[in-house]
Amino acid sequence: MKIAIIGTGNIGGTLAKRFADNDHSVFLGVRNINDFKGVELLSYSKNITAHLITEAVSKAEVIVIAVPAQFANEAAKSLGDVSGKIIIDTMNGVFMRPQGFNNTSDAILANCNSTDVVKCFNTTGFENIANPKYNNQGIDMFTAGSSKRGLEIATQLAKEIGFENVYHFGGNDKFSLLEQMALCWINLAIMQKQGRDIAFKIIRR
Ligand SMILES: NC(=O)c1ccc[n+]([C@@H]2O[C@H](COP(=O)([O-])OP(=O)(O)OC[C@H]3O[C@@H](n4cnc5c(N)ncnc54)[C@H](OP(=O)(O)O)[C@@H]3O)[C@@H](O)[C@H]2O)c1
Repeated sequence: MKIAIIGTGNIGGTLAKRFADNDHSVFLGVRNINDFKGVELLSYSKNITAHLITEAVSKAEVIVIAVPAQFANEAAKSLGDVSGKIIIDTMNGVFMRPQGFNNTSDAILANCNSTDVVKCFNTTGFENIANPKYNNQGIDMFTAGSSKRGLEIATQLAKEIGFENVYHFGGNDKFSLLEQMALCWINLAIMQKQGRDIAFKIIRR
């Protein structure tokens, strides 16, 4: 798959490595090609290259957005033409919201010309994306969004990198709920001091 990643820090950089490990072509979309967080990703894999944002987007079928939530409007506007492309939103507007919106996925939908926006990879820390295995068992990932194509791609990517099951929260009306799930993880890991090596998994009888 050809995947552009906008925002190349903790979460974007970790996803870049994991996708490159699975032989996807990863185009980092950056504002300054000579100075961006995650420049060391270029020496990690031949599958990772850096480009200005619109160039990375034009080369890709799937676009991952991983910038601080308050910049979601700006990042979505900077993509250029994304008609027919799938956008995976990893962001959480739980502390700083994008101006005018309750969650980052709604901000993306309003500021670009793709309707295939899904939220995924937002409910856990980047360390769990780097390694989703606990005692040899994969932890779970969660999605929300009304785009069937988007959900299929997000589910495939999450499973490829080691998440065991991918549970769907529902359509676009569940974007905010999925951000609240991320806030639950943040609350336990950071505020309640359980540490970042904790993860959610659904168990059944
Ligand atoms: N950290 C986690 O464990 C985690 C987990 C789940 C979800 N998330 C979500 O992921 C998002 C990113 O978090 P992070 O911890 O990865 O942040 P981070 O390490 O601070 O990286 C932020 C990245 O965003 C880029 N950026 C900032 N404003 C931009 C803009 N207007 N246009 C394009 N790129 C822009 C920065 O670019 P430069 O390189 O140019 O500085 C940098 O590469 C947040 O919304 C957060 O809620 C984070």
